[in-house]
Amino acid sequence: MDKLAIVLMLISLVVAMPIVHSTIEEPKEVDEWLHKIHFAKEKMTKLHFYFHDTPSGKNPTAMQVAQSSITNKSSALFGLIEMIDDPLTTEPEPTSKLVGRAQGLYGASGLQDLALLMAVNFAFTSGKFNGSTLTILGRNLALHPIREMPIVGGTGVFRLARGFARAKTYSLNATTGDAIVDYNVSVIHY
Ligand SMILES: *[C@@H]1O[C@H](CO)[C@@H](O)[C@H](O)[C@H]1NC(C)=O
Ligand SMILES: *[C@@H]1O[C@H](CO)[C@@H](O)[C@H](O)[C@H]1NC(C)=O
Ligand SMILES: *[C@@H]1O[C@H](CO)[C@@H](O)[C@H](O)[C@H]1NC(C)=O
Ligand SMILES: *[C@@H]1O[C@H](CO)[C@@H](O)[C@H](O)[C@H]1NC(C)=O
Repeated sequence: MDKLAIVLMLISLVVAMPIVHSTIEEPKEVDEWLHKIHFAKEKMTKLHFYFHDTPSGKNPTAMQVAQSSITNKSSALFGLIEMIDDPLTTEPEPTSKLVGRAQGLYGASGLQDLALLMAVNFAFTSGKFNGSTLTILGRNLALHPIREMPIVGGTGVFRLARGFARAKTYSLNATTGDAIVDYNVSVIHY
């Protein structure tokens, strides 16, 4: 083997090294992580969970915080803004294992269509993702069968993440607005 081949082999070993880190780190550890990023390999993580949005009842997890002068007359609820802290679970049943919470807000941004602007953080609370977050910022045509929304970033395990989420309504109570939504999230991160 010539020198070049050995150097290339060493580089490929470095390139393949995964970089593992916890969610709470000292500034020095963050610097080290950033330094290693040049050699780190990107990976794809897929997550599947159910989002429980409950505006009704004694313990709502979604609450209206604002509306426009036309919201009440608008078939698309234009101008309505809801703040949420919705549980995320492994199965559609609300009693199934809690894996995190969706905290943030959505607002009705379509004059004609029910087009929600979603600005929501998924804050994970279980397993290796405990303490890490992913952020959705995108358009949710809530009445369509499947909606795709961008994941614009993350923290902790998901630092520098990018990806997308696909959402499908699992159940909706038209009277109360309570909904359970099936989410698949695919992200690339280090
Ligand atoms: C819209 O309807 C709600 C509930 O009925 C009411 O509290 C609110 O004042 C109305 N808003 C406007 C701008 O008419
Ligand atoms: C998640 O992390 C928090 C803070 O470090 C800890 O208190 C909690 O027990 C962890 N939960 C799980 C399920 O590991
Ligand atoms: C998520 O992926 C699972 C497994 O592939 C599939 O059954 C489900 O329909 C998907 N849901 C969405 C919203 O794409
Ligand atoms: C919707 O919620 C109301 C109030 O909790 C309940 O009476 C009704 O049965 C629900 N409808 C469906 C289809 O689950």
